[in-house]
Amino acid sequence: MTRYAYPYGSFCVEQIPNQPQVAHCHSFFVRADQRGQGLGKRLKQEQCRVLAAMGFDFATCTTAGDNVRQHRVLVSCGWQRLTEFVNSNTGGTTVMWGWTVQRDMAMREAA
Ligand SMILES: CC(C)(COP(=O)(O)OP(=O)(O)OC[C@H]1O[C@@H](n2cnc3c(N)ncnc32)[C@H](O)[C@@H]1OP(=O)(O)O)[C@@H](O)C(=O)NCCC(=O)NCCS
Repeated sequence: MTRYAYPYGSFCVEQIPNQPQVAHCHSFFVRADQRGQGLGKRLKQEQCRVLAAMGFDFATCTTAGDNVRQHRVLVSCGWQRLTEFVNSNTGGTTVMWGWTVQRDMAMREAA
């Protein structure tokens, strides 16, 4: 597991077991005192650059079904809603998202 930390937030990226071209992303957050200023989208774009630079072909993440802010971040960064299920741990809905890594992202400068 690798954690990427920035002054305004952080995220983790992990290769899934037995499939070196697929990453699972998790623990994504913007610091509570800095939300609502577009930093969620900026952080997700940075994560996309990291995934490209690491040479992955595909990435996944999950969200709570009612996490509207994060859903807007994901859609705006080109992630696709793959499926959803009733989470027997939380009782809520969990959504699974996927992103086909864009190689040219690795070359882009951070915003
Ligand atoms: C989800 C999270 C990362 C979003 O970060 P953020 O910096 O607040 O996001 P942004 O400012 O980039 O805004 C994201 C979208 O949410 C919208 N938004 C902002 N404040 C909002 C609010 N109070 N209610 C609803 N939507 C809101 C923005 O308009 C934007 O949508 P748009 O680009 O279509 O206009 C952040 O709120 C967070 O860390 N939450 C707690 C942890 C979490 O849920 N992480 C994700 C786990 S999967």
